[in-house]
Amino acid sequence: MKSKLANKVIVVTGGTRGLGLAIAQACVAGGAAVIVTSRTSTAVDAAVSSLRARGGQAAGIPCDVANAAQVQAVKNFALQTFGTLDVWFNNAGLSAPYGPTLDVPPERFLRVVQTNIIGVYHGSLVALQQFVTQGHGKLINIYGAGDTKVRPFQNAYGSSKSWVRSFTETLAKEYKGAGVEIIGYNPGLVMTDMLSSVEAVAGYEEAVMPLATVVRLWGNPPEIPARKAAWLASAATDGRNGLVVRQLTMFAMLKGLLQEGWRCLLRRPPAPFALSVETV
Ligand SMILES: NC(=O)c1ccc[n+]([C@@H]2O[C@H](COP(=O)([O-])OP(=O)(O)OC[C@H]3O[C@@H](n4cnc5c(N)ncnc54)[C@H](OP(=O)(O)O)[C@@H]3O)[C@@H](O)[C@H]2O)c1
Repeated sequence: MKSKLANKVIVVTGGTRGLGLAIAQACVAGGAAVIVTSRTSTAVDAAVSSLRARGGQAAGIPCDVANAAQVQAVKNFALQTFGTLDVWFNNAGLSAPYGPTLDVPPERFLRVVQTNIIGVYHGSLVALQQFVTQGHGKLINIYGAGDTKVRPFQNAYGSSKSWVRSFTETLAKEYKGAGVEIIGYNPGLVMTDMLSSVEAVAGYEEAVMPLATVVRLWGNPPEIPARKAAWLASAATDGRNGLVVRQLTMFAMLKGLLQEGWRCLLRRPPAPFALSVETV
């Protein structure tokens, strides 16, 4: 991996915790220089320090991906800091409280739209303007639950990921032959704040509880999907415009079920996964 990411400059939006930070860590471990962003400047500083402490080349700048000027500033910062731009991960994302659409506070629904849809649009635009001009670069958009199937009670999130998939795969067709790779990646279930600190509208708290079992069966620590993400960013995917990769496959689901059966047979306690549900 080291040689395949050496000299690459990679932007990871939402790179301060969870999957984004793990992607940043995997990329610097592979020899890349990484720019991390999120809305919280203290979190950006902490992420940059942790990446540098591992010997990595890293820099950061606060950015709300919903703000076009701030996303443009991330690109300018990457070019000023490291002189080039090779890969852009549109990773920043969030979800709304679990519940029926009419009960979800409109500002929370719109926050998801602004981050997961408008943010991915902004990031894709600035990255592709650079990549198409220079004739190379990889845009990697993060899919999620809802990208291929409807998600009742998670309408904001699920619909946003359906949009991300459609948008990404449309871009891949439009820019075929431009020398760029436009890639979709669904990391499967990842044990991050997004899954462990969940919000629900009143009356829907109990309905969220089975999530703990689902995550125990099929969830991965962020390092696992991050390794695949770093591979997607590497020269291994040169020429593979339109590639879509999914971490949670039928095989991985069967493996999780078998492991659970084995655990029950041996009467071992389940791996702990703390789920907190807050009512909004
Ligand atoms: N966890 C899963 O099981 C799972 C499964 C499939 C797909 N995904 C996708 O993976 C991505 C990362 O999720 P995660 O689980 O790592 O979530 P997370 O732990 O909650 O981290 C989200 C990151 O995005 C940042 N962020 C949120 N809104 C932002 C905005 N408007 N502008 C800039 N940064 C923003 C957060 O920082 P600030 O809050 O400080 O801004 C944080 O760094 C998301 O796109 C998610 O949909 C996750």
